[in-house]
Amino acid sequence: MSEICKNWSTWLKKTRFSYMNELQMQQTLNWLMAIRDEVLALADIKDGQKVADFGCGSGLLAFGVLEKFEDRVELIFSDKFQDCLDECEKILSQTNIKNNVQFLKTDISDIKLSSNYLDRAMTRSVLVHVKEKQPVFDELYRVLKFGGYYCAFEPIISENTRYYELLDKNQITDYDDFMKAEKEFMENPSDSLVNFNAQSLDENMTKAGFSDVLVNVQAVKSNYVPSKEGILNWFIAPPAPEKKTMKERFLEYFDEKKVDNFILEVQEALSDKEISVSSNTALIKAVK
Ligand SMILES: C[S@@+](CC[C@H](N)C(=O)[O-])C[C@H]1O[C@@H](n2cnc3c(N)ncnc32)[C@H](O)[C@@H]1O
Repeated sequence: MSEICKNWSTWLKKTRFSYMNELQMQQTLNWLMAIRDEVLALADIKDGQKVADFGCGSGLLAFGVLEKFEDRVELIFSDKFQDCLDECEKILSQTNIKNNVQFLKTDISDIKLSSNYLDRAMTRSVLVHVKEKQPVFDELYRVLKFGGYYCAFEPIISENTRYYELLDKNQITDYDDFMKAEKEFMENPSDSLVNFNAQSLDENMTKAGFSDVLVNVQAVKSNYVPSKEGILNWFIAPPAPEKKTMKERFLEYFDEKKVDNFILEVQEALSDKEISVSSNTALIKAVK
């Protein structure tokens, strides 16, 4: 595993921002807060309900619930990894909320909760890290009460702007080969990051038994001017702990000299110029 990406809590605090400048980081944090508010609005939580944030990480959704409800809901911070729960517990200890909060270490594909337990289950950018999506939805359905909601936000990475779309053929040696490689690994069915889209999520939830399934896709367009160093980080920052970097993905097709030359050519073509990229995201709601 990369030194800069030891575990999830480190990745959440440091690595995911590593290719950004101050402005981009602030914009990303504002964007995360806006997402949090959208998911919470969909969840329409009421006093006294049992609510879980699965794959809570550093607690984006769960702390949003606490801010609004304090101890008037029964809130579960849940994650597969202890370091994330420890991080949330540390943040929680700095608040005056002492009641009605639990920490649950569990895999979202095999949730350690009894059936028909929760009023609300929420996730943000968690499905994207689980290779087999159907067992996740089966489990979320099982642990919800009838009438309970599952609400989420997921990036649809398979539909993001690709490098080859930002580049001209004459700027890159063997452009067609790099395009072919990128197309292939961005559509790899065994890669959790890219093996789904809005339609497959809808099908998974319907198959699990959910009704009133909503998968609302938004294409977020952004224009910015990447630096040389920022572009290098596109290639060397892991998209999640233990996931291959972009450079490592290209190394499965080409030798290191060729990949390094590709990165240099991308830097030459795009650094200090305005680029326009699109990222697709889905806001999700389903009812048991
Ligand atoms: C991108 S982070 C999102 C964290 C948080 N939900 C947020 O919005 O900031 C992905 C989270 O999913 C958790 N995770 C990954 N695989 C998981 C699994 N199989 N079961 C439960 N949690 C998982 C990770 O530990 C990490 O906290």
